[in-house]
Amino acid sequence: MSEMKENKKNIVLGVTGGIACYKAADLTSRLVKDGFNVDVIMTPNACNFVSPLTFQTLSKNQVVTDTFAAPKYWEVEHVALAKKADVFVIAPATADIIGKIANGIADDMLSTTVMATGARVVIAPAMNVNMYENVIVQENIAKLRRLGYLFVEPGAGMLACGDVGKGRMAEPVEIAEYVASVAAETGVNSEKTSVRDLEGKRILVTAGPTVEEIDPVRYISNRSSGKMGFSVAEAALDRGAVVTLVAGPVNLECSSGIRRIDVKSTEDMLKACLDNFDDTDIVIKAAAPADFRVENKAEHKIKKTDGNLCLNLTENPDILATLGSRKQEQIMVGFAAETRDLEKYAREKIKKKNLDMIVANNVAAPGAGFDKDTNIITVIRSADGSMTEYPIMSKRAAADVILDNVLDILRSR
Ligand code: PMT
Repeated sequence: MSEMKENKKNIVLGVTGGIACYKAADLTSRLVKDGFNVDVIMTPNACNFVSPLTFQTLSKNQVVTDTFAAPKYWEVEHVALAKKADVFVIAPATADIIGKIANGIADDMLSTTVMATGARVVIAPAMNVNMYENVIVQENIAKLRRLGYLFVEPGAGMLACGDVGKGRMAEPVEIAEYVASVAAETGVNSEKTSVRDLEGKRILVTAGPTVEEIDPVRYISNRSSGKMGFSVAEAALDRGAVVTLVAGPVNLECSSGIRRIDVKSTEDMLKACLDNFDDTDIVIKAAAPADFRVENKAEHKIKKTDGNLCLNLTENPDILATLGSRKQEQIMVGFAAETRDLEKYAREKIKKKNLDMIVANNVAAPGAGFDKDTNIITVIRSADGSMTEYPIMSKRAAADVILDNVLDILRSR
């Protein structure tokens, strides 16, 4: 049944039991049309919803199931497929498979294969809203995200069970596009992992939001998750750099090789950056510091009975502009988070903050900006004014693109 497919990237698609299995058939068909070789593993419950023959016909590959297979057979097959995968996708992913992966349980064909793979794993959850919101499921998802597993968020609406809420598997077209962007990145990364082209360079990266307290229980902040900055820090570490990461309050962990400084306010972030600036070769400011702080922070919780609340906000220091004014040999990279006139505002920021390069992102575009796993970036360099627009990609791939540009600037000096 299988054809020779050496030139195609391999997707291993795990299908678990739920009504969204029918959408996995559409996903298989899209991935095949997009030029991937698709191998499907179905759990016994998935086989109750859709016949393996459907996936076999669409993928033109033998479908792997546990239903009639003895454990001996798994041992060969699960390692073979685990190695073959360029990207491993689980769609639909039930609470059960998410729980198994998060807790290291490998008791069937799919869970053993995913445990044995070195490929990026993309998970598209699908379940009842109450199950999805269950704290244990959410903790399992958070743990897997921290470990680098990728998720395509479920949609909200009327679910097959009649409940209304979040839990409906993302549409196959959305999953297929995301898988394609991850697959494109795997080619880039596999070449790059052996390249330590930033060996010994000292990089200062900022990430996440800052928070400005109003009173002991309230604060002003923004929706930055820190994912973009953390991706830059991890990519720089992989490429041999000595990385200092100044992070606002975020829910992310980083590799132990990164020197991490946690801060709260914009003034804290400024201090941490100034303390480290002289020993830095490259600054990459992916953070979203709060531009204003409350003039007189209340010592005690402000009571509702105090009437209408008027807050006097005072402007925070611009960290990047402050560093830019002290710049010596450092390469300075800023970000521009815009919702319109991206190029115009980005070019203004290059001048105002004395930057070598700016990474502009339209934070209103789908798949870009705050709290997303992907971004759509435009890189503008100050030396020659050149501008390059990149397609949607994972934040980790975007981080490598940013570092490629930095390296290019370093080499041209
Ligand atoms: O964290 P994520 O959820 O992954 O989201 C990523 C991101 C959208 C936050 C990131 O891609 C991004 O765009 N970061 C810059 C956010 C921002 O503050 O943009 P800005 O256009 O307001 O600021 C321009 C530059 O000045 C930025 O490099 C910023 O770090 C810096 N700045 C801003 C204000 C300030 N007081 N001091 C600064 O240094």
